[in-house]
Amino acid sequence: MKVIVIGASGTVGTAIQKALPSDWEMIKASRSGDVSVDLNSPSSIAAMYSETGPVDGVICVAGGAKFGPLNSISEDDWEAGFRNKLMGQINLIRLGQGYIKPGGSVTLTSGMLSTHPNPKSVALTTFNIAVEGFVSAAALNLENGQRINAVRTPMVRETAQKMGWGDGGVPASEVAQLYLLSLLENKNGHVFEFQRD
Ligand SMILES: NC(=O)c1ccc[n+]([C@@H]2O[C@H](COP(=O)([O-])OP(=O)(O)OC[C@H]3O[C@@H](n4cnc5c(N)ncnc54)[C@H](OP(=O)(O)O)[C@@H]3O)[C@@H](O)[C@H]2O)c1
Repeated sequence: MKVIVIGASGTVGTAIQKALPSDWEMIKASRSGDVSVDLNSPSSIAAMYSETGPVDGVICVAGGAKFGPLNSISEDDWEAGFRNKLMGQINLIRLGQGYIKPGGSVTLTSGMLSTHPNPKSVALTTFNIAVEGFVSAAALNLENGQRINAVRTPMVRETAQKMGWGDGGVPASEVAQLYLLSLLENKNGHVFEFQRD
């Protein structure tokens, strides 16, 4: 079984690689990955699928938008975030439908800022919610058992530590489990999120 992970070299992508069951092969994709892809470029997404051929899963752990208060985000910033975080992920299913095997899944990333906004998350909150809305309705369009879900990624502990924000957040190894649930469980149109006991 094969899964393309866009953003494989990142904090969450690396944790997904470690957690992936041994009967799965991970195709590492990103701008500098084994397979080259840029979420900003629909033609590079199409080229990625031509290179990989049919797959059982696609996971996107890439994509972002500018962090900052409303008045610091220019029209260009909004357009860049739209192109990357939203349209880039939409294009993974729009251009990939013919490559995803029956029963295969696409997993997109939103983020906790969709439900926990702060004054500097205005762009990310907007695009995260749009990703989740897209997933809920796109799921109703898929055929042959294809599935699409999102992971509402929490603050990742390793990221918090890297940024000097302390030891809060959820370890990347636990975040990776949300992506595996989406890949392996028979869910469609679902938003997976971390829940503490
Ligand atoms: N870490 C957190 O605390 C957190 C919290 C909430 C949500 N998220 C979301 O979760 C996702 C993964 O986060 P992360 O912390 O693992 O990210 P990360 O460590 O910064 O890694 C980003 C990955 O995405 C790739 N990438 C960047 N721009 C790309 C593009 N235009 N096209 C294709 N690939 C691209 C990078 O590789 P190349 O440089 O080779 O392209 C890298 O593999 C992101 O969407 C992020 O917004 C993260």
